[in-house]
Amino acid sequence: MKKFFIAGNWKMNTTPKSAMELCLLLKNSTKELGAELDILVCPPFTNIQAVAMALEGSRIKYGAQNCYFAEKGAFTGEISLEMLKELGCTYVIIGHSERRKIFNEDNELINKKIISSLSAGINQIFCIGETLEERQNGKTVEVLKEQISVGLKGISPEQAKTIVIAYEPVWAIGTGIAASPEQIQDTHIEIKKYISQLFDDEMKNLILYGGSLDPSNAKSILELRGVDGGLIGGASLKADSFLSIIRIASELQK
Ligand code: 13P
Repeated sequence: MKKFFIAGNWKMNTTPKSAMELCLLLKNSTKELGAELDILVCPPFTNIQAVAMALEGSRIKYGAQNCYFAEKGAFTGEISLEMLKELGCTYVIIGHSERRKIFNEDNELINKKIISSLSAGINQIFCIGETLEERQNGKTVEVLKEQISVGLKGISPEQAKTIVIAYEPVWAIGTGIAASPEQIQDTHIEIKKYISQLFDDEMKNLILYGGSLDPSNAKSILELRGVDGGLIGGASLKADSFLSIIRIASELQK
Protein backbone atom coordinates (compact mmCIF):
# COMPACT_ATOMS: atom_id res chain seq x y z
CA MET A 1 0.00 0.00 0.00
CA LYS A 2 1.25 3.48 -0.83
CA LYS A 3 1.68 6.12 1.82
CA PHE A 4 0.79 9.31 0.01
CA PHE A 5 2.34 12.69 0.62
CA ILE A 6 0.10 15.58 -0.40
CA ALA A 7 1.78 18.98 -0.23
CA GLY A 8 0.44 22.44 -0.99
CA ASN A 9 2.78 25.14 -2.24
CA TRP A 10 0.92 28.37 -1.74
CA LYS A 11 3.57 30.44 -3.52
CA MET A 12 3.05 34.23 -3.01
CA ASN A 13 -0.58 33.88 -1.99
CA THR A 14 -2.55 34.38 1.22
CA THR A 15 -2.06 36.82 4.08
CA PRO A 16 -1.70 35.77 7.72
CA LYS A 17 -5.48 36.11 8.12
CA SER A 18 -6.54 34.22 5.01
CA ALA A 19 -3.85 31.58 5.63
CA MET A 20 -5.30 30.99 9.06
CA GLU A 21 -8.83 30.68 7.68
CA LEU A 22 -7.71 28.19 5.06
CA CYS A 23 -5.85 26.13 7.66
CA LEU A 24 -8.84 25.99 9.97
CA LEU A 25 -10.99 24.58 7.15
CA LEU A 26 -8.32 22.01 6.30
CA LYS A 27 -7.80 21.06 9.93
CA ASN A 28 -11.48 20.44 10.57
CA SER A 29 -11.95 18.33 7.46
CA THR A 30 -8.92 16.07 7.78
CA LYS A 31 -9.47 14.72 11.29
CA GLU A 32 -11.16 11.52 10.17
CA LEU A 33 -8.75 10.55 7.43
CA GLY A 34 -6.42 7.59 7.80
CA ALA A 35 -3.20 8.35 9.63
CA GLU A 36 -1.16 6.95 6.75
CA LEU A 37 -1.59 10.11 4.72
CA ASP A 38 0.98 12.90 5.04
CA ILE A 39 -0.35 16.41 4.45
CA LEU A 40 1.82 19.51 4.27
CA VAL A 41 1.20 23.17 3.52
CA CYS A 42 3.92 25.65 2.60
CA PRO A 43 2.72 29.24 3.11
CA PRO A 44 4.78 32.39 2.51
CA PHE A 45 7.29 33.10 5.30
CA THR A 46 5.18 35.90 6.78
CA ASN A 47 2.24 33.54 7.31
CA ILE A 48 4.06 30.63 8.90
CA GLN A 49 3.35 31.71 12.45
CA ALA A 50 -0.37 32.16 11.75
CA VAL A 51 -0.44 28.74 10.11
CA ALA A 52 1.39 27.19 13.05
CA MET A 53 -1.25 28.57 15.41
CA ALA A 54 -4.17 27.50 13.24
CA LEU A 55 -2.82 24.00 12.76
CA GLU A 56 -2.06 23.33 16.40
CA GLY A 57 -3.32 19.88 17.33
CA SER A 58 -3.81 18.98 13.67
CA ARG A 59 -2.26 16.22 11.59
CA ILE A 60 -1.26 18.75 8.92
CA LYS A 61 2.40 19.70 8.81
CA TYR A 62 3.74 22.98 7.56
CA GLY A 63 6.92 24.10 5.91
CA ALA A 64 8.57 26.88 3.94
CA GLN A 65 8.94 27.54 0.24
CA ASN A 66 12.60 28.51 0.33
CA CYS A 67 15.56 29.15 2.63
CA TYR A 68 19.07 30.50 2.51
CA PHE A 69 22.03 28.22 3.20
CA ALA A 70 24.05 30.45 5.53
CA GLU A 71 23.40 30.28 9.27
CA LYS A 72 23.07 34.03 9.79
CA GLY A 73 24.58 37.36 8.86
CA ALA A 74 24.47 40.07 6.25
CA PHE A 75 22.06 38.52 3.74
CA THR A 76 19.33 41.14 3.45
CA GLY A 77 15.93 39.64 2.78
CA GLU A 78 16.95 36.04 3.34
CA ILE A 79 15.60 33.50 5.83
CA SER A 80 17.74 30.91 7.62
CA LEU A 81 16.92 27.32 8.43
CA GLU A 82 17.24 28.04 12.14
CA MET A 83 14.49 30.65 11.83
CA LEU A 84 12.25 28.14 10.08
CA LYS A 85 13.01 25.45 12.61
CA GLU A 86 12.10 27.65 15.52
CA LEU A 87 8.72 28.29 13.87
CA GLY A 88 8.14 24.55 13.73
CA CYS A 89 8.66 24.05 10.00
CA THR A 90 9.43 20.42 9.25
CA TYR A 91 9.94 20.80 5.49
CA VAL A 92 11.44 23.27 3.10
CA ILE A 93 10.92 23.36 -0.66
CA ILE A 94 14.24 23.71 -2.45
CA GLY A 95 14.87 24.35 -6.13
CA HIS A 96 11.36 25.19 -7.27
CA SER A 97 11.38 26.10 -10.96
CA GLU A 98 10.09 29.59 -10.18
CA ARG A 99 13.15 30.13 -7.95
CA ARG A 100 15.38 28.70 -10.65
CA LYS A 101 13.88 30.81 -13.42
CA ILE A 102 12.81 34.10 -11.85
CA PHE A 103 15.48 34.30 -9.15
CA ASN A 104 18.30 32.65 -11.10
CA GLU A 105 18.93 29.85 -8.63
CA ASP A 106 21.33 27.37 -10.15
CA ASN A 107 22.07 23.76 -9.29
CA GLU A 108 25.12 24.75 -7.19
CA LEU A 109 23.13 27.12 -4.98
CA ILE A 110 20.39 24.51 -4.64
CA ASN A 111 23.03 21.99 -3.56
CA LYS A 112 24.19 24.35 -0.80
CA LYS A 113 20.63 24.71 0.42
CA ILE A 114 20.13 20.94 0.42
CA ILE A 115 23.32 20.40 2.40
CA SER A 116 22.55 23.08 4.97
CA SER A 117 18.97 21.90 5.43
CA LEU A 118 20.23 18.36 6.00
CA SER A 119 22.50 19.58 8.77
CA ALA A 120 19.75 21.76 10.22
CA GLY A 121 17.45 18.74 10.42
CA ILE A 122 14.66 20.09 8.21
CA ASN A 123 13.26 17.77 5.54
CA GLN A 124 13.53 18.78 1.92
CA ILE A 125 11.19 18.75 -1.03
CA PHE A 126 13.72 18.96 -3.82
CA CYS A 127 12.12 20.16 -7.07
CA ILE A 128 13.35 19.20 -10.49
CA GLY A 129 11.81 19.53 -13.93
CA GLU A 130 12.43 20.30 -17.59
CA THR A 131 11.15 23.15 -19.73
CA LEU A 132 8.94 22.56 -22.75
CA GLU A 133 11.83 23.22 -25.09
CA GLU A 134 13.99 20.69 -23.28
CA ARG A 135 11.24 18.09 -23.49
CA GLN A 136 10.61 18.77 -27.16
CA ASN A 137 14.31 18.40 -27.87
CA GLY A 138 14.44 15.04 -26.09
CA LYS A 139 16.57 16.46 -23.27
CA THR A 140 14.29 15.71 -20.32
CA VAL A 141 16.32 12.91 -18.77
CA GLU A 142 19.61 14.71 -19.35
CA VAL A 143 18.34 17.88 -17.65
CA LEU A 144 16.91 15.96 -14.70
CA LYS A 145 20.14 14.01 -14.26
CA GLU A 146 22.12 17.25 -14.13
CA GLN A 147 19.71 18.77 -11.60
CA ILE A 148 19.90 15.64 -9.45
CA SER A 149 23.64 15.00 -9.68
CA VAL A 150 24.64 18.59 -8.85
CA GLY A 151 21.76 19.17 -6.43
CA LEU A 152 22.66 16.09 -4.38
CA LYS A 153 26.45 16.40 -4.67
CA GLY A 154 28.39 15.54 -1.52
CA ILE A 155 25.47 13.82 0.16
CA SER A 156 25.62 10.30 1.58
CA PRO A 157 23.16 7.64 0.39
CA GLU A 158 21.62 7.65 3.88
CA GLN A 159 20.97 11.38 3.66
CA ALA A 160 19.80 11.19 0.08
CA LYS A 161 17.20 8.57 0.96
CA THR A 162 15.39 11.02 3.19
CA ILE A 163 14.92 13.67 0.50
CA VAL A 164 11.49 13.98 -1.08
CA ILE A 165 11.79 14.65 -4.80
CA ALA A 166 9.13 16.66 -6.63
CA TYR A 167 9.08 16.17 -10.38
CA GLU A 168 7.50 19.33 -11.76
CA PRO A 169 7.69 19.75 -15.52
CA VAL A 170 7.99 23.53 -15.92
CA TRP A 171 5.53 23.54 -18.83
CA ALA A 172 2.84 21.94 -16.67
CA ILE A 173 3.05 24.43 -13.80
CA GLY A 174 0.13 26.82 -13.64
CA THR A 175 -0.91 26.03 -17.21
CA GLY A 176 -3.89 23.80 -16.52
CA ILE A 177 -2.20 21.13 -18.63
CA ALA A 178 -0.72 18.39 -16.47
CA ALA A 179 1.79 15.97 -17.92
CA SER A 180 0.17 12.79 -19.23
CA PRO A 181 0.11 9.68 -17.04
CA GLU A 182 2.63 8.03 -19.39
CA GLN A 183 5.00 11.02 -19.22
CA ILE A 184 4.75 11.12 -15.44
CA GLN A 185 5.22 7.40 -14.91
CA ASP A 186 8.13 7.11 -17.34
CA THR A 187 9.89 10.11 -15.87
CA HIS A 188 9.42 8.99 -12.28
CA ILE A 189 10.90 5.62 -13.17
CA GLU A 190 13.91 7.34 -14.81
CA ILE A 191 14.39 9.52 -11.72
CA LYS A 192 14.32 6.54 -9.36
CA LYS A 193 16.69 4.61 -11.59
CA TYR A 194 19.16 7.48 -11.81
CA ILE A 195 19.21 8.20 -8.08
CA SER A 196 19.84 4.51 -7.39
CA GLN A 197 22.67 4.53 -9.91
CA LEU A 198 24.15 7.72 -8.50
CA PHE A 199 24.25 6.38 -4.94
CA ASP A 200 24.96 2.80 -5.90
CA ASP A 201 22.08 1.70 -3.75
CA GLU A 202 18.39 0.97 -4.22
CA MET A 203 16.86 4.34 -3.45
CA LYS A 204 13.29 4.55 -2.28
CA ASN A 205 12.82 8.30 -2.20
CA LEU A 206 9.28 9.55 -2.29
CA ILE A 207 8.69 11.16 -5.67
CA LEU A 208 5.84 13.64 -5.93
CA TYR A 209 4.36 14.96 -9.13
CA GLY A 210 3.61 18.67 -9.50
CA GLY A 211 2.11 20.70 -12.33
CA SER A 212 -1.61 21.44 -12.74
CA LEU A 213 -2.57 18.60 -10.42
CA ASP A 214 -6.22 19.15 -9.52
CA PRO A 215 -9.29 17.17 -8.42
CA SER A 216 -10.08 16.22 -12.03
CA ASN A 217 -6.77 14.47 -12.72
CA ALA A 218 -5.63 13.53 -9.21
CA LYS A 219 -6.87 9.94 -9.34
CA SER A 220 -5.28 9.11 -12.68
CA ILE A 221 -1.96 10.63 -11.54
CA LEU A 222 -1.81 9.38 -7.96
CA GLU A 223 -2.63 5.81 -8.90
CA LEU A 224 0.41 5.59 -11.17
CA ARG A 225 3.26 3.32 -10.19
CA GLY A 226 6.12 5.42 -8.89
CA VAL A 227 3.99 8.41 -7.90
CA ASP A 228 4.01 8.90 -4.13
CA GLY A 229 1.98 12.07 -3.93
CA GLY A 230 1.66 15.57 -5.26
CA LEU A 231 3.04 19.07 -4.87
CA ILE A 232 0.08 21.27 -5.59
CA GLY A 233 0.02 24.97 -6.39
CA GLY A 234 -3.24 26.58 -7.51
CA ALA A 235 -5.52 23.80 -6.30
CA SER A 236 -4.04 23.97 -2.79
CA LEU A 237 -5.27 27.54 -2.30
CA LYS A 238 -8.92 26.60 -1.98
CA ALA A 239 -9.97 24.29 0.82
CA ASP A 240 -12.47 22.47 -1.43
CA SER A 241 -10.07 21.54 -4.18
CA PHE A 242 -7.16 20.69 -1.85
CA LEU A 243 -9.47 18.55 0.28
CA SER A 244 -10.81 16.78 -2.81
CA ILE A 245 -7.28 15.77 -3.75
CA ILE A 246 -6.55 14.70 -0.17
CA ARG A 247 -9.70 12.55 -0.14
CA ILE A 248 -8.80 10.94 -3.46
CA ALA A 249 -5.35 10.05 -2.06
CA SER A 250 -6.95 8.69 1.09
CA GLU A 251 -9.35 6.52 -0.94
CA LEU A 252 -6.50 5.15 -3.04
CA GLN A 253 -4.71 4.10 0.11
CA LYS A 254 -7.50 1.82 1.22
P1 13P B 1 0.19 24.38 -10.05
O1 13P B 1 -0.44 23.23 -9.31
O2 13P B 1 -0.49 25.68 -9.85
O3 13P B 1 0.42 24.02 -11.50
O4 13P B 1 1.66 24.58 -9.41
C1 13P B 1 2.47 23.49 -9.22
C2 13P B 1 3.66 23.90 -8.45
O5 13P B 1 4.48 24.67 -8.91
C3 13P B 1 3.80 23.38 -7.08
O6 13P B 1 5.05 23.63 -6.57
